[in-house]
Formats: sequence, structure tokens, C-alpha cells
Amino acid sequence: MKRVFIDTMGCQMNKSDTERMLGMLSYLGYDETKEPKDANLLIINTCSIRQLSEDKAFSEIGTWGQWKKRGKDIKIVFSGCVAQQKQREIFKRAPYVDLVIGTHNIYQLPDLIKRIENGETRICECPDIPYGEKDIEIKRVKSVNAWIPITEGCNNFCTYCIVPYTRGRERSRLPETIIKEAKDALSQGFKEITLLGQNVDSYGKDFKDREYRLADLLTELNALEGDFWIRFVTSYPTDITDNLIETAVKLDKVCEYFHIPMQSGSSEVLKKMNRRYDRETYAKIANKVREMVPDVTITSDFIAGFPGETEEQFEETLTAMDELNLDYSNTAAYSPREKTVAAKWTDLYIPEDVKTERLRRLNEKNMECCLRSNQKFVGRELEVLIENFENHKGKNVVTGRTRNNKIVHIPCEKDLTGHFVKVKIIGAKTWYINGEIID
Ligand code: SAH
Ligand code: SF4
Ligand code: F3S
Repeated sequence: MKRVFIDTMGCQMNKSDTERMLGMLSYLGYDETKEPKDANLLIINTCSIRQLSEDKAFSEIGTWGQWKKRGKDIKIVFSGCVAQQKQREIFKRAPYVDLVIGTHNIYQLPDLIKRIENGETRICECPDIPYGEKDIEIKRVKSVNAWIPITEGCNNFCTYCIVPYTRGRERSRLPETIIKEAKDALSQGFKEITLLGQNVDSYGKDFKDREYRLADLLTELNALEGDFWIRFVTSYPTDITDNLIETAVKLDKVCEYFHIPMQSGSSEVLKKMNRRYDRETYAKIANKVREMVPDVTITSDFIAGFPGETEEQFEETLTAMDELNLDYSNTAAYSPREKTVAAKWTDLYIPEDVKTERLRRLNEKNMECCLRSNQKFVGRELEVLIENFENHKGKNVVTGRTRNNKIVHIPCEKDLTGHFVKVKIIGAKTWYINGEIID
């Protein structure tokens, strides 16, 4: 019996890679197990966005290394962004790893797994250039939401960010491939398609043989038969065109949700981050989206304590969150990443305790914004796509999301996973809203 356990860290890009790896491994006879102790093959799919995520990966596989040392017959694979970045160096910290595989060549996985099954060890395959895609089965982790990458990599080189180094230059996947994957997912009963990319709104810029952008892709997907929703993340503020917004509004399956990271509320900091907009430009874009898209949810990402950030500049972030009525934000303290430009500005580093305190204030403001945003919907009737059925403190509840990505908890005795239900919103908490099924 061959069993694989995959621990997936990081963003949806990694989660999507995991689904592809599971698909390829099923051809080699591997079943997935959620229990690392039961696996013969253990894979850690890593993220290097912050030092913390990198350190977590090494501490997790430390346990696997000990099992191996004690004689357990297992193979250990290290994949994802840390693999692409550190390559052979990984063996120095974790000599028990059998295979290091990069982000550009996951389609090579079956061949590489066969090699380690045959006793080869310490293989490191992390090419710099993308390895051709293969048409493979995808073993999706969720049952309702299907993630489909549409662009990979990034050309923006924000001065804090490792992604252009771990995922390479931006490339768009062909519309034919994406549409085929969407059709497959829909025929398997999926109810939501989420298009993924570091900058989805620059989709298609690299096509030489055609003029085809995100709005065209959304239009084609929207025309597919069936009852389903479409989302797309992440949007780079200045790449959101009027045409994209108008198309999103016009298409009935495209949800009212934009994830538009701002990163900082200070124009000076944004400049040092190499973001291509200032506070005013971001505000103009976010306000335009809000005016044009009814009931839209706009979410963002922010970094606290970027090198050189003054107290005043940090406070500009807090006021931006308020003024723009951002519905939710991912927050993080700045973490220096090897190779990136800002990591060299050591003399401008903000002391750890100041960063932690700023992050705390950022989170506090975020919670305020979330609660305010959720309260807007109390008394409204909204459609919810149910994603889960669980027993919560002795009561049966279903949870799902609205078109504008609000998480809703609903008391319900029946497992309605995968169904669209009409819900009356009766209460608001910070991280979710409470609803009751209407019919
Ligand atoms: N492509 C997206 C972001 C991808 S990375 C965009 O441009 O907005 C996800 C988030 O991680 C970023 O938005 C940023 O807020 C955070 N992040 C990236 N590098 C970081 C670093 N070095 N320290 C702290 N947070 C970081
Ligand atoms: Fe990183 Fe900037 Fe690219 Fe986003 S746009 S992935 S933050 S370099
Ligand atoms: Fe992390 Fe790589 Fe995603 S660094 S955030 S897993 S692209």
C-alpha cells in the first residue's frame, strides 16, 4: 500500500500545485493520507514569503527526519518556494531529504519519484526555466471550490518580495487549457471557479499571437453551462481596467469581490516598495470599484514595519484602511528576504518590538473594519454557497460564502454542501456573519 502525505504551506498557488502533485501520484499508485505517520512518501510544499514560514517547514520535517533515522522506511520530498530558492542548500539543514523539487518542474514529479523509489537519494531538480505543462488529472482538495492558476510568476519585483525569485517571470496559461480545466471541474460538480495569479489582471499581456485578456477569459467562462460562481485573485491596483470592472459587473457568474493589496497607506513607503501607485491613485481605483460594483467586497494586504517606515507613515496605513472602508486585510510584519532589494537596507530596519506593536495596531484596525463591514449586511437577504457541514458545540451548522466573499454560519440539520441557498442575515461578528435559511 503506497500512501502519500502532503503538508501544504503558503498561498493558493501552492495549494493548486499540491492538487496537481496528488493527481500525478495517484497514477503511481499513491493514495492520500491525512496522517503523516501512515505515509511512505512525505512531501512538504513550502512557502518562503516570510522567514517564519521557511522556519516552520524545517521544523516540521525535523520530525520526519527522526522517523527515518530510527529506521522507518519513508521517502521525504521538499517542494515549493523554499525549494526553488535554496535548492541544494536544503540538504545541509535536512540531510535526510530524498528529493528537492522546484516550482517550475512539478510535472517532472512522477519520474523523480520513481528514481527515489529505486533507491536514489539527494536528488535536486530545480530548473530556472519553466518545464512544459502536461495534461494530468488534478486531485482537488476541496469539493466545492476549484482553483485554477491562470498566470504564474511575477514581473513586479516589489522590493520586499521573494515571489519573482521563487516563481519566475510572469507567464499566462493558455485560455484553452484554463477552460478545459474549468469544464472538467464543473462536470465533477464543482460550484465555484477561482482564477489564481500573483497579478490576474495582467493576464494575457505576454501573448504574442492574440489579444486576449482577463475580461475575455471571464466572458468565455461565464458562458459555460451550469450554476456556478467565478472569482479571480489577486488584482494589482493599476492593472484593473474599466473594461475589467464593467465586464465583471455585466457577467452574472462573476462575484462582487476584489482582492487588491495596497501594502501601505503612505505614498513614500509605496515608492520604496516599488509599487506603481501612490495613496491617491490606489484610493481612486478602490473607490471606482466600489462605485461600479454593487455590494462589492474589497480586501487588501498590508505590511507593518517596512524598512524606514516612520510612525507617521505607519499611521497613514491605519487611516487608509478606515477611509477606504476596506472590508478585510491580510496583515504581516515585514520580514527581510534574501536576494530582495529591501533586505539590503539593514540600517533602516525597524526594531522587532516596534514592528510587533505596529502589527498589533494593524490587526486591531483590521478587526474594526471587518466588523463594520459585516454589520452592513444585517437584515439583508443574500445568496450563500455552502461549503461545509459540521457540528459546532453540539449544534449542526453549515458554513459558506456569499458572492461578496463573506463567511456565513447558518444553523441547519442537513448537509447542504455544494448548494446555493437564500439566507437572511441576522447578526454580524468580526470574522463571519450569522444567517438563517429563508426557503
Ligand atoms: N501578488 C500579490 C501578493 C503576493 S504575496 C500582490 O502584489 O499584492 C502575499 C502578501 O505577502 C503580499 O501582499 C505582502 O503583503 C506579503 N509579503 C510579501 N513579502 C513580504 C515580506 N517580505 N514581509 C512581510 N510580508 C510580505
Ligand atoms: Fe510580490 Fe509584488 Fe509580485 Fe505581488 S506584485 S508577487 S508583492 S513582487
Ligand atoms: Fe509563498 Fe510561494 Fe505563494 S512564497 S505565498 S507559496 S508563491
